[in-house]
Amino acid sequence: SLKVVIIGGGSSYTPEIIDGMIKRHHQFPVSEIVLVDIDEGERKQEIVANLAKRMIEDAKASIQIRYTKDRRKALQGADFVTTQIRVGGLKARALDESIPLKHGMIGQETNGAGGVFKAFRTIPVLLEIASDIHEICPNAWLVNFTNPAGIVTEAVMKHSQHQKVIGVCNIPYNMRSGIGEIFNVSADRVMIEFIGLNHFVFGKRVFIDGVDQTDEAMRHLIDDDLNYSPANIVSLPWNKNFLQSLNMLPNPYHQYYFQHEEILAKDLQAYRENGTRAEVVMEVENKLFEKYKNPNLKEKPQELEERGGAYYSESACSLMSSIYNNSMDVQTVNTLNKGSIPDLPSDAVIEVNSVISASGPMPLAIGPLPDTISGSIIQLKKFEQLVIDAAVTGDYRKAYASIIMNPLVTSDEKAQMVLDELLQAHKPYLAQF
Ligand code: NAD
Ligand code: G6P
Ligand code: MN
Ligand code: MN
Repeated sequence: SLKVVIIGGGSSYTPEIIDGMIKRHHQFPVSEIVLVDIDEGERKQEIVANLAKRMIEDAKASIQIRYTKDRRKALQGADFVTTQIRVGGLKARALDESIPLKHGMIGQETNGAGGVFKAFRTIPVLLEIASDIHEICPNAWLVNFTNPAGIVTEAVMKHSQHQKVIGVCNIPYNMRSGIGEIFNVSADRVMIEFIGLNHFVFGKRVFIDGVDQTDEAMRHLIDDDLNYSPANIVSLPWNKNFLQSLNMLPNPYHQYYFQHEEILAKDLQAYRENGTRAEVVMEVENKLFEKYKNPNLKEKPQELEERGGAYYSESACSLMSSIYNNSMDVQTVNTLNKGSIPDLPSDAVIEVNSVISASGPMPLAIGPLPDTISGSIIQLKKFEQLVIDAAVTGDYRKAYASIIMNPLVTSDEKAQMVLDELLQAHKPYLAQF
């Protein structure tokens, strides 16, 4: 038997991971999927589970599907556990986004002050989940999507006994499939040498069918305004000199750092016109759930592409399948550095190409960070570690330090204001403070 537990099962993304498991059923023969959620997600779970049943039946895959609120019971006998939770829901996300924006700073769910507070709310819950896994199904792999995925994964590595945890994000896959489009090949023929951290990763070299095509890829990026941004980011074209001087593929989240003023202006405009991204997502979600309820729907709907995390199941399912099959192929995951980047501590979590075997990811050596990006990567990693330290101790000064040391926070006064406002706004989810 092969059992997968999806924590945050009521997510509108769930049909995608179900689809990914159905597609891979011959190589990754899941026999049981259990969705786990909390009170507020109960009705959503029921709708998602019913759609999942129709999808499975339509594909004639023999997978049993159940849903529950009892996490500990669900974990019994689990082989893989995925976490896709949002502590405080989209209401909390709206606050992470709007409070910094009101102070004239980037308001984003994984970057800047908003990302810090998403980590503060999430880390204690993920540590509880990891502790349950360690007790109930210690051999299970925890595949974490919950944002900020890199920070949360490092927090689990450092503060939980359960070490079988891997962080995943759809951005590396999106970059591969975006590059694949310009070379007219599928993503599986594209290899990118990634360097950096979750949502701060660069593509140093590009290989198509094993041949180095970095120059050609950079030329396309420069001349054709190739765009591999997910739906949640207002994308602007990159400055040609920026690309030439970097000579690496940036990821869409780099805009917040390297086109700071332009993106802030665009985000403020979008906020005035449509509210926060959280509010936009609430509408997308309502639309999706209306579709999911339709008894004739037997596949994941096209509209899921309006979510920034579309294609996350590609990373999740291929990762679980390669662990199960001991495939020893290369995938991009968030895992311990272990010397891959000598400039960063061995126990830091980085986003890195890794050989995936039954014993988990083994990161490939990257070598020293290129001069252009080493300063910012080291700074952001230190920032992430301040966030983790503040999240587990509930120490106000540490929380302040993590906010002020974030490059998207522009003054000590503003750091203080957003810190105090966000602490107040999220009080029900921040018992540690
Ligand atoms: P969502 O608001 O739909 O939340 C998913 C579910 O989690 C909800 O049904 C909610 O009730 C449930 N939940 C909240 N707290 C819980 C808990 N303690 N235990 C069990 N369930 C709980 O969120 P979403 O938009 O589906 O996103 C889910 C998470 O995945 C977020 O953290 C988001 O940032 C992240 N995400 C990550 C990536 C990535 O690239 N890593 C991509 C997309 C989304
Ligand atoms: C992106 C990211 C995720 C992010 C999400 C937001 O692609 O990789 O980490 O949280 O999409 O999407 P949303 O539709 O919720 O705004
Ligand atoms: Mn089993
Ligand atoms: Mn991501």
